[in-house]
Amino acid sequence: MTKLAILGGEPLRGDPYPSWPVHDEADVEAVAAVVRSGNWGGYPYPGPETKRFLDAFTAMNGGRYGVAMMNGTITMEVALRAAGIGWGDEVIVPAYTFQATAAAPMMAGAIPVLADIDRDTFCISPSAVKAAITERTRAIIPVHVASQMADMDAIMAIADAHNLIVIEDAAHAHGAVWDGMSAGTIGHFGSFSMQSTKSMTAGEGGILLCQSQEHAWLAESIIDCGRPHDPDETIYTLGFNYRMTELQAALLNVGIQRFPAQFDQREKSADYLDEALSEIEGLRVLPRDSRLHRRSVYSYTFAIDPEAFGATNRVVARALFAEGIPCSSGYDPMYRYDLFQPGLSRLPVPSAFPEYFDYEGLDLPVVERISGREGLWLEESVFRAGEEGVNDVAAALAKVQEALERDPSLADALAAQ
Ligand SMILES: Cc1ncc(COP(=O)(O)O)c(C=O)c1O
Repeated sequence: MTKLAILGGEPLRGDPYPSWPVHDEADVEAVAAVVRSGNWGGYPYPGPETKRFLDAFTAMNGGRYGVAMMNGTITMEVALRAAGIGWGDEVIVPAYTFQATAAAPMMAGAIPVLADIDRDTFCISPSAVKAAITERTRAIIPVHVASQMADMDAIMAIADAHNLIVIEDAAHAHGAVWDGMSAGTIGHFGSFSMQSTKSMTAGEGGILLCQSQEHAWLAESIIDCGRPHDPDETIYTLGFNYRMTELQAALLNVGIQRFPAQFDQREKSADYLDEALSEIEGLRVLPRDSRLHRRSVYSYTFAIDPEAFGATNRVVARALFAEGIPCSSGYDPMYRYDLFQPGLSRLPVPSAFPEYFDYEGLDLPVVERISGREGLWLEESVFRAGEEGVNDVAAALAKVQEALERDPSLADALAAQ
């Protein structure tokens, strides 16, 4: 009988998982070279390091046009602006995502309309998207959550039928492949984050892939204070300084070389974990869609059946974390964020369109269930620690489950803590 670490026992895993980002002298040298060059910033856009990274990243993804920015939130704002989407337009986003997916439309003056998710992927549900379409809908932002992808076939079919722009939020999905196409190259735009925790990182950074040259020119103008970027020098637009710096691009040029091996390692470990978890009763391994050819393991999501397992996701996540497993219960439903409450938010969009932000009647049962009861997330570091790192996850889950079986009152006691 081993006492749970959350109750003061010995943690199952004593050693920390490997830290992120991985770095060595190559990163130091790359940054030092930019420092010595004196060309630190993003002007004139694109600088040589930025251009080199854009070429490598678009080639890696089979994308058409890439635009480099400061982060993976403004990438989505810029995509909306480049597509002419703004004040009062409706943009459908999942209610289960990082706040940036809904904040970006508001920064462009558009209204985020929250939709339910799919139980098997935790990504936006195509049928919920369909049900949310009105005559004011202009765009959909599907998010590829953790290591899953949204059903892009269904989403593109809906978008085609209703003449909507699709911006893939691929902040988690560098290198993922859906039916032969890279994440971020299926919609009209693909938005990537290079923030510290992401699978390819410069600390901060963002790339927007664009399908059309015109969208790319517009996006380049918007991030470069409105300067024209088309060869005829005719496209002038309202712009800002959202450029990526050369220091960021230099780090990305090193990171992209390590990326394929890291990607393979994480994916292989995730496959191994699928098998290990399928042996544990009360857990649900998310089914693998046959169109998800490569999965990018930014995080790993799975689900518990609280009745069979003996506790809800929040209790299990806290118990696992105490055992040394970097685990969480994932996102809260977006409609609970203060940011989106017209009474609390002083942002122009919720104030101007309060009817959209009255979530009283909103019924998103899958978001409620995944967020409040079933969903569990493991950090990517688990997947860079070999089979032993994965085995520890399974062993910690078994330890928690055994303790819950032994003492059924434990779940309530831990939930009340
Ligand atoms: C799903 C999702 N979208 C967008 C972003 C925003 O990226 P950034 O932090 O680079 O602005 C994040 C970042 O965590 C994210 O997880």
